[in-house]
Amino acid sequence: MRFALGLFCLLLTAGAAPSGAGAAELAAPGTLPRPLVIAHRGASGYVPEHTLAAYTRAIEQGADYIEVDLVSTKEGYLIARHENELSTTTDVAQRFPSRRTSKVIDGETVTGWFSEDLTLDEIGELRARERVPFRDQNQNGRYAIPTIAEILSLRASKSRELGRQIGVYIEVKHPRYFRGIGRPIEEPLISILAAWAMDRAGSPIFLQAFDAGSVMMMAQRTQVPAIYLMDKLGPETSDESLKTIATYAKGIGPAKTMIIPVDENGRALPPTDLVKRAHAAGLLVHPYTFRPEGAFLPVNYNGDALREYCDFRRLGVDGVFTDTPDLALKAFAESCPMTK
Ligand code: G3P
Ligand code: CA
Repeated sequence: MRFALGLFCLLLTAGAAPSGAGAAELAAPGTLPRPLVIAHRGASGYVPEHTLAAYTRAIEQGADYIEVDLVSTKEGYLIARHENELSTTTDVAQRFPSRRTSKVIDGETVTGWFSEDLTLDEIGELRARERVPFRDQNQNGRYAIPTIAEILSLRASKSRELGRQIGVYIEVKHPRYFRGIGRPIEEPLISILAAWAMDRAGSPIFLQAFDAGSVMMMAQRTQVPAIYLMDKLGPETSDESLKTIATYAKGIGPAKTMIIPVDENGRALPPTDLVKRAHAAGLLVHPYTFRPEGAFLPVNYNGDALREYCDFRRLGVDGVFTDTPDLALKAFAESCPMTK
């Protein structure tokens, strides 16, 4: 059934695709009434990440976008996982013990069980596990690993049910590695978006990658905005580089420490000027990843995650990737309900 749904969606023509993809035009940087709330891997602070249950929880909490990371199966189907090594977030080790192997992925040797070694039917046997040890482990074993087709289908049905356009913010994982083994992510992703008429200007989709070539290609072949992800300040964040990025990307997705750095004791430091300079280059700024637990939150917030959202809001970010969309929405509605 899963195989059939994936195939069906891959074969759909644009004209025959499910409808309801329209959405408001993106606002210019700095003019949104509040930052977009992007549910990072779904409501992954509450439900095992990248499951339909995690995306559903995020949508029901009011997230504007659900964030999806994609890797490939053996046949080239696209499934939602943060890594192609599956043992950190699934029961693959128990179900397929003999498939353990070692590979070099993006320059690092990784040992485990890999999405590209399993068929979609085999992936269908897996059940998700909570990655973070201090989060709820009681849902382990309940939820399947979704395909991009199943996620777009969920998006369409929840959008109809709730009467609002829910967005999907899709990241291509390990793009060079997957292209190198003959299982590129971008082409099947673009095909399925086209089949759902979701590759058009105004579609509630963002595409994202840490790889500039992948971002450029997706920007060229679709009409939806592409976001270039970054993990540190440096030559890539010079004014000149930001202007270059703006020639192909709609925005940047920086680690949030590139905007409010944190010292070795976990204390937040004075902000950088990255948001201001990115806006000057015409780029949206969507930092990642907001998480409320003490292991992630800078110590000077004293456990008050809402204050962190407000600090970023005051700096003018256009969106936030968060594991807890409810807290982001609460902060923007109650703690710092500013209008720009
Ligand atoms: O895509 C934004 C953010 O999710 C990037 O970090 O590692 O969680 O995919 P990661
Ligand atoms: Ca991601």
